[in-house]
Order: sequence, then structure tokens, then C-alpha cells
Amino acid sequence: MNGTGKELILRHSNGTRIAHWSVAIVFTFLFLSGLALFSPLFFWLSSVLGGGSLMRFLHPLAGAALVILFYPYAATLVGDNRWLPNDSRWVEHMGAYMRKEHPDVGETGKYNAGEKMMFWSMVVLIGLLAATGVLLWQPWFAPHFSAGARRAAGLVHAVSAFIMFVGIGIHVYAAIWTKGSIDAMIRGTVTRAWARFHHPAWERETTAGKDRR
Ligand code: HEM
Repeated sequence: MNGTGKELILRHSNGTRIAHWSVAIVFTFLFLSGLALFSPLFFWLSSVLGGGSLMRFLHPLAGAALVILFYPYAATLVGDNRWLPNDSRWVEHMGAYMRKEHPDVGETGKYNAGEKMMFWSMVVLIGLLAATGVLLWQPWFAPHFSAGARRAAGLVHAVSAFIMFVGIGIHVYAAIWTKGSIDAMIRGTVTRAWARFHHPAWERETTAGKDRR
């Protein structure tokens, strides 16, 4: 065994945590303002988001901010999110994993297959939302596109947003459910015991001195 279980090891650097929480704050604004713009049922939310016209003006700007914040952050995570053979085993046993039965899914690295799927779906969905958002952006870009193109963009934008909200919902649920995980995203560190239990292959890398982030 390497080190004591209570020893703290770095999981997320200061830069990573600032990027993550900035993305989360911008996403929350986009989620709430998007709901208000999507249906009159939720338009009341605009009263806490600066009023209807300011919120409508800020929504696409927040979308641009999400792109600027998310992709450089995501670029630093690509290496740890590469799909490995063990990840397919994790997916096969996902049900048992959720029931906390600890099936044998092999050695998990820095992120498990569930986190990797979330990561890659965000990479695709934020791209789709941004691309279709440009076609809907009044008064700057929308007038340059046909009504048909804007209708199609509106549909893809709404469907992508819905999948994203569900995905982030699962992400937040899993973060709360995995004790010690939110703490790691706030303070940056986890105990060696936590790392050994949830991400044994990554824990070994940190002892080998490979993880310097
Ligand atoms: C307020 C809600 C959120 C909470 C509580 C939360 C919590 C967390 C936690 C605890 C981790 C670390 C997991 C670990 O160490 O294994 C994490 C990682 C991550 N989060 Fe969040 N998060 C939130 C919102 C978001 C949003 C809105 C996005 C993106 C749009 C996001 C994207 C990510 C990514 C990309 C990672 C790294 C996972 C990977 O690379 O596979 N999070 N989050």
C-alpha cells in the first residue's frame, strides 16, 4: 500500500476548479434564462434574471461565454477522458454500479466511464447549442438565415438543451451521491483512501509522481 489512507492528494488544480465553477455558474444562468425563453410557463424566471429584454440580450452572450470558458477547460481534460477497454465493462455493469454493488469493472483511471460519457456529450452538445444559437441570435445573425433554417436550428437547440439539462442533472446527482467528490471540486484534494476506492489506477499514477496538475 502506498501512503496512508488519510493523506491528501491533489485531484483538481486551482485553475481547473475556477474553470469548472465558472462554467457551472454560466450554465445555471443559461438554463434558467433558456427555460424562460422556451415557454411562457417559465417566463416569470425573467423577473429574477434582470427582466425580459435584458435576459434575452444576455442569454446569447452567456452562451458565447460558455464556449470561451468550456472548450479550453475541456482541452485540458481530453487525455483523462480517452475511452479505454475497461470503460466498456463499466458501462455493461452500470446498473450494479448504481446499486453500489461494486462489480468488478477493472481499474478505473482519473475518470470513470460515466464521467467520460458526460464529458464527451458536453463537448458535442455545447457545440450544437452554440452553432444553432448563432442562427437564432436576434438582431445580429438571425436575419441572415431563412425561416426554415431558423426553425430547424430552434428544434436542434431545444432538443440539445433538454439532453444537456438531463445530463447535468445526472452529473450533479452523481457528484452528490459520490461522497467526497464535491469537496474535491471545492478544495482540490481527496484522501488517498477515496482515490484508491474510486479511481485506483489514477491513485497509483499519483504515487508514481506522474500527476502534476
Ligand atoms: C452546480 C452543479 C455542478 C456540480 C455540483 C458539479 C460537480 C462536479 C464534481 C464534484 C466534479 C469532479 C468529479 C471527480 O472528481 O471525479 C465535476 C467534474 C466535472 N464537471 Fe461538474 N458540476 C456541476 C456543473 C457542471 C457543469 C454545468 C458542467 C459543464 C457544462 C460541468 C462539467 C464538468 C466536467 C467536464 C468535469 C470533469 C469530468 C470529466 O472530465 O470527465 N459540471 N463536477
